[in-house]
Amino acid sequence: MSPLHVTRALPEDATDAALRADVRRGLTVRPKWLPPKWFYDARGSELFERITALPEYYPTRAEREILADRAGEIAAASGARTLVELGSGSSEKTRYLIDALPALAVYVPVDVSESALTQAGRALMTKRPGLDVHALIADFTAPLALPKTPGPRLVAFLGGTIGNLLPAERAAFLASVRGLLAPGDGLLLGTDLVKDERVLVRAYDDAAGVTAAFNKNVLTVVNRELDADFDPAAFDHVALWDVEREWIEMRLRSRTAQTVKVPALNLAVDFAAGEELRTEVSAKFRKDGVSAELAAAGLELTHWWTDTEGRFALSLSLAR
Ligand SMILES: C[S@@+](CC[C@H](N)C(=O)[O-])C[C@H]1O[C@@H](n2cnc3c(N)ncnc32)[C@H](O)[C@@H]1O
Repeated sequence: MSPLHVTRALPEDATDAALRADVRRGLTVRPKWLPPKWFYDARGSELFERITALPEYYPTRAEREILADRAGEIAAASGARTLVELGSGSSEKTRYLIDALPALAVYVPVDVSESALTQAGRALMTKRPGLDVHALIADFTAPLALPKTPGPRLVAFLGGTIGNLLPAERAAFLASVRGLLAPGDGLLLGTDLVKDERVLVRAYDDAAGVTAAFNKNVLTVVNRELDADFDPAAFDHVALWDVEREWIEMRLRSRTAQTVKVPALNLAVDFAAGEELRTEVSAKFRKDGVSAELAAAGLELTHWWTDTEGRFALSLSLAR
């Protein structure tokens, strides 16, 4: 069995500096906000896995259905020998692709969560002992240095994670993905689709409260890393649909007027009663918009598949 290579593209102090900068910036403006990548320490990654199995959270099941049905077509259209997956998490659905790609030599999962990467990498190596797995601990919103591996290359970005980027961030991200591809290489992109508001809100506000715990986990991360004294019980989980911008927003609403101390930043953060901190947006898409955003980045949409209920789409686009 080939060994699991894990490369840390970001030194730990760079991660720490990035968290400090994000917390200082996000908690000293109005409205307050934090980027969603800070949810994903080991507990956050575990909570996300539990979310994917919730009855209300349809995106994972819908995307898995498409992958199970279409992996052969995706493999034939891409012929990939290297599969790079951004925000790979547990890589659970990716196995359909890996199994369908007979010429696949290298899999490069990229994630900020070291625990998710090592668990997924080990599980994969048991199932596909011949496959080289080069896991990369990195931030996909920053320039990525990928290992030199054989082409053609397929970059997968699944789970609807692209919806967590704001529109300007999405454009920059797609341009940087295009920069990782040679002409004819592909991007396999999972996008959650616009649908009934009640279905959407339920997916982000489940009855068992797992998404609420996931949302509050960002406070626990800031407490642990920056010695802050957030009381997660003093905040309510909020999920709402922004009809204009067609995205779900997750927020944490302060139950009372309170001051939170962040000693590592020498910061005291005042929250008014009812004040909200935005922790995630999750944009929902339509085919025309996806196609236009890809085209603007130099990617041509060649395939568009949805699940049978039309809730989620996987698209394949090729670098021009
Ligand atoms: C919504 S989950 C999706 C996981 C998996 N792809 C799936 O479809 O179930 C987002 C994943 O992206 C990772 N992630 C979030 N922001 C990231 C960033 N800026 N750079 C790298 N990974 C990131 C998280 O750790 C998590 O594993």
